[in-house]
Amino acid sequence: MNNNLPTSIVIFGASGDLTQRKLVPSLFNLFRKGRLPKQFRIVGSGNTSFTDDQFRKHLADGLKQFASFQYTEEEWTTFAGNIVYLQGRYTDLADFKKLGDFLNKSESGAGNRIYYMATPPDIFPNIIDLLGLTGQLHENGGWRRVVIEKPFGTDLASAQSLNRQIHKTLNENQIYRIDHYLGKETVQNILVTRFANTIFEPLWNRNYIDHVEITVAEKVGVEHRAGYYDKVGVLRDMFQNHLLQLVTLVAMEPPASFAANALRNEKVKVLSSIQPIQGESVARNTVRAQYNGYRKEDGVKPDSTTPTYAAVRLHIDNWRWQGVPFYLRSGKCLKEKLSQIAIEFKRPPHLLFPGAHGDMTPNMLVLYLQPDEGIHWRFEAKVPDTAADMRSVDMEFHYKDSFGATAIPESYERLLLDALGGDASLFTRADEVETAWGLIDPILEAWESQKQSPSTYEPGTWGPGEADDLLKRDGRAWSRWDGRVE
Ligand code: BG6
Repeated sequence: MNNNLPTSIVIFGASGDLTQRKLVPSLFNLFRKGRLPKQFRIVGSGNTSFTDDQFRKHLADGLKQFASFQYTEEEWTTFAGNIVYLQGRYTDLADFKKLGDFLNKSESGAGNRIYYMATPPDIFPNIIDLLGLTGQLHENGGWRRVVIEKPFGTDLASAQSLNRQIHKTLNENQIYRIDHYLGKETVQNILVTRFANTIFEPLWNRNYIDHVEITVAEKVGVEHRAGYYDKVGVLRDMFQNHLLQLVTLVAMEPPASFAANALRNEKVKVLSSIQPIQGESVARNTVRAQYNGYRKEDGVKPDSTTPTYAAVRLHIDNWRWQGVPFYLRSGKCLKEKLSQIAIEFKRPPHLLFPGAHGDMTPNMLVLYLQPDEGIHWRFEAKVPDTAADMRSVDMEFHYKDSFGATAIPESYERLLLDALGGDASLFTRADEVETAWGLIDPILEAWESQKQSPSTYEPGTWGPGEADDLLKRDGRAWSRWDGRVE
């Protein structure tokens, strides 16, 4: 396919939050870096009535608020000259014909197109059907790709049905399902850490690793998204996608190549090897809780049992990970915003030094995904001027020190660039999404059949005590949140 053709980026849901906060700032920054195709047009489509100028002004206002980079007015004006707005209803064939005609005319010949679904998820299939009916997905010398925002379904059955529906009009290689965690630099760096260094991979298995902890903590509550959140809860919102994706990257075997399918095959293998948590094992392996005050949030049902926090213990049944628990936790209204993966190593088999009393701190490798992005490596050192006393010390890599404070781009930049370049490595494949739902569904079923409400935790804490008990029962504890050595 020819990447030099004029490229249209059509955004459905263009008047919404995502377009203003993430998509347009990311496209603008790609433009500033000279990474967008030479001829491109961004076509906003939505129900709201905007003239082109009003839409550009709305985006410029968003940029002032949300852009994490410096830019000049001149840069913006040149970029904004490529943006237009077409008002349209997502259910109206005539409006889709109008869009198709507009694109044909503006491309004047073959052109490449991305259709970005930034609308509520229940509208995706309808939009894709109408795009198909109006011939817009037909590849006439230029490519057609569809980017689909999360959530992809609400359970296995709805994800399967959504996949079936969109496969009627699209081939899998035209579909780019977003999980914005995969666009994060630090998440992509998991594979580089593992496979571009020789020192980690030999240790990366059940012989040396005691357990793995994955934490995605948020300080904010549900904010203005209660209408969506109260229907889904933390397991659908964070675990089915982001946390399970992190598990696959930590646990996967080296892929045959970095090509999208080779990579995704390995991820699906990990998901298929996770022991399903179902029936009675749900109570032993999971914790759910709700922050105090959640039921009083605007848009939340006063008797809501939606969990805003969960902790889950997983086991992966394969040669590499047999017997190594993966502890996952995520929640809203916690003490800090922090995403990290902590790999705790086994204790040395024999303690030689007189100062060591069996309570020696195990080695730990912590991948800090956000905020202070980096990697810390904790190991033991001899305390100077003692016979053989030991203390844990920390070797730290911070992105901001090595690459500069502004080195990390917004994750949507990477994802948009890859979708434009036809690289689906950082997008989830149909079978990947479905396998992940297959793991989440039985937990949700067991939770939903429980009579009692989830336990509660105080906002500004690290979550419910039950999450500590989950590890305590295994003789373990969550690693310290700041990852620092005392
Ligand atoms: C989204 C969830 O996918 O991820 C939100 O829907 C959550 O509820 C967000 O706040 C967290 O993303 P990040 O990049 O801020 O960790």
